Amino acid sequence: MSADVLTAEQVGFRYADVTVLHDVNLRVGSGTTVALTGANGTGKSTLLHLLAGVTPPTRGRVVRRPGTRLALLPQRTSDIDALPLTVGECVQIGRFTPRRRLSRDDRARVAELMQRLDIAHLARRRLRELSGGQRQRALIAQALVQDADIYILDEPTVALDTHSRQHVHDLLTERAAAGAAMVIASHDPAEAALAERTIHLEGTTPSLAVEK
Ligand SMILES: Nc1ncnc2c1ncn2[C@@H]1O[C@H](COP(=O)(O)OP(=O)(O)O)[C@@H](O)[C@H]1O
Ligand SMILES: [Mg+2]
Repeated sequence: MSADVLTAEQVGFRYADVTVLHDVNLRVGSGTTVALTGANGTGKSTLLHLLAGVTPPTRGRVVRRPGTRLALLPQRTSDIDALPLTVGECVQIGRFTPRRRLSRDDRARVAELMQRLDIAHLARRRLRELSGGQRQRALIAQALVQDADIYILDEPTVALDTHSRQHVHDLLTERAAAGAAMVIASHDPAEAALAERTIHLEGTTPSLAVEK
């Protein structure tokens, strides 16, 4: 049994007067993938933001193992599109640290992922000029290039064709095999099948988290 890197204990969340999540419990070990399923509006994106630490829960607690690096691929990316970034810059951001320039190794990792996600030829194009699927691949590359211990991915392949989706699934399988913990919200059964466990949010208000 691998040690947990991410846990949610009795987590609840409310937006103003609407309680979206109630008593969600979740443990994710290194090398383990958990799928998060549920109809639109059941609170998947909200829960992922709590797990990633973007928003604190209104009840309970989220604990990430100290020292772990976490990468988040959000569902809503309109803020990112508003920036005048090229695809190459978007992916490089995943390797930025405040203290040093990108190393040769960083650049190699960026190039490798862009190749694998078939966006190398788009390196100089601006994000906002891309198709939905191209943009999504750039954002997946930005998340995966971080070499994180925990990946939180919100419907990562929803805009992708079958071929691209398979490439992403291969990359995710490799990361899990290398010890990464993942939580992936998805409506795609093939994507949920990458996971050892599925947490399903039932469409009640607040949502009930059921492990399947
Ligand atoms: N910023 C917000 N303010 C108020 N309500 C919100 C906000 N974001 C989401 N909600 C509501 O919370 C519920 C869960 O949303 P969300 O987490 O995006 O669900 P999912 O990702 O499963 O589709 C929905 O009813 C949605 O309308
Ligand atoms: Mg969502």
